[in-house]
Amino acid sequence: MEVTTENTEQRQIRQPKPERGSRLELLTETFAFEGKAVARREDGYVIFIEGALANEKITAEIIKAKGNFADAKLIEVLQPSRDRREAICRDFGICGGCSLLHMKYDAQLYWKKQQVHEIFERIGKLENPPVLDTIGAPDREYHYRNKMEFSFSEERWLLPEEIASGDVANRLAVGLHVRGRYDRVIDTEFCHISDPLGNRILEFTRLFRDEHKLRVFDPDKQPDGLLRFLVVRNSFSTGEVMINFVTSHYDEQIMQSYAGLLRKEIPEVTTLINNINSKRAQIAVGEKEFVIFGTGMISDKIGNATYQISANSFFQTNTVQAQRLYQVACDFADLKKDDILWDLYCGAGTITLFAAPHVKSVLGIELAESSIADAHANAERNTIGNVEFISSDLRKALLSPDLLSQYGKPDVLIIDPPRSGMHADVVREILELAPERISYISCNPATQARDIEMMSEKYSVEALQPVDMFPQTWHIECVAKLKRK
Ligand SMILES: C[S@@+](CC[C@H](N)C(=O)[O-])C[C@H]1O[C@@H](n2cnc3c(N)ncnc32)[C@H](O)[C@@H]1O
Repeated sequence: MEVTTENTEQRQIRQPKPERGSRLELLTETFAFEGKAVARREDGYVIFIEGALANEKITAEIIKAKGNFADAKLIEVLQPSRDRREAICRDFGICGGCSLLHMKYDAQLYWKKQQVHEIFERIGKLENPPVLDTIGAPDREYHYRNKMEFSFSEERWLLPEEIASGDVANRLAVGLHVRGRYDRVIDTEFCHISDPLGNRILEFTRLFRDEHKLRVFDPDKQPDGLLRFLVVRNSFSTGEVMINFVTSHYDEQIMQSYAGLLRKEIPEVTTLINNINSKRAQIAVGEKEFVIFGTGMISDKIGNATYQISANSFFQTNTVQAQRLYQVACDFADLKKDDILWDLYCGAGTITLFAAPHVKSVLGIELAESSIADAHANAERNTIGNVEFISSDLRKALLSPDLLSQYGKPDVLIIDPPRSGMHADVVREILELAPERISYISCNPATQARDIEMMSEKYSVEALQPVDMFPQTWHIECVAKLKRK
């Protein structure tokens, strides 16, 4: 046994770490980022429990134990939390899509706020982080996704009841991935966060596959198989629906037969596209595209701007919440009619165009050339003239000596980097630029807090606003309002 001095008031005897497979009765205290409850043994040893909520008495089984913490899975709830509810999905706990279906929605919003608070205290080194209540989507906590990507497989993940019954002959699947297993597919019957039409299209396609005895592509075991992915996208504002059927090769007869039946049974579908991906990479992007019917595009709106969405273009997956997120970002930026705004990591320019009517000019900077091409087209389509775009790595772009002379010194920045946050060089360049106001959007509060801590010598954090872009999941989007000191 080891004696620890972690707690200076009372020296505690540290017990050995728990054995893998051992079962413990625990009282959970809190709910951590990434969706696990946290419990502590008497000696302070921390245990993260998947499937449990805060303030529950549970039995858990240790999966993995390290020096100062262990991961465990829930075995039994002895005393449930007031926040617990029955998860409405058959695949809850197996599917990688939703991890919080067992938590009441207002509690999801509460814990997302708490997690931002904890992260900004711990990583952002703020004494009392000014976190506002999470902006939720109580009007649309289910069926909010405008894009679903289903995979085909011939080695379906078996559900516990199937294993028990021994009925495992047919292992075809079309559906979502098992949590953390991108090589394993569930035969999804109904997804509660997909648009309802997505579920009908999924079932229709499953029946079509069976009637035509279509096989799944596998580069090693079945290189002549056809099926790969089924992607469904729908427009919130126009009601248009796109199917992108991703196959290993073009089979005209099959695609025409699918199209004919689809138009009869689900006439709501406005365009059908067949992307061909013959490569090993398990991605729903093809090297060739056939438009089987319709225009090959759908259009949707965020704010007053309309966007054309093709099979492979990026668009926010929760249209209603994206609008709320962008509104917060612009409010936090405190935009003024004579402002020069720079929108860093601008993607296809959706925030750029949302903010443009409120400022003198906007410059959007983004690495992906295809997104910048979309951004130009979107600006033109909406006849928005006060925007310009540059396709470049921000590390290089911000160092360019011509940037300020060409586009003017920014009064305000909106920043929306990927999950990894900003490169330290970009943070340094922003500190050099030192605009008066910064609105920093992030889908990862941990890297956001890290970056903002690096900026603390020059910027104070005026507000932190979590926005729930992905109800039923542990994901958190957060906007920070920064003001130059
Ligand atoms: C979270 S997305 C931004 C989405 C966009 N603001 C929107 O609302 O649609 C992050 C973007 O950063 C871009 N990106 C990643 N690394 C970059 C870099 N080093 N320089 C510039 N852009 C980068 C990605 O291509 C991606 O479009």
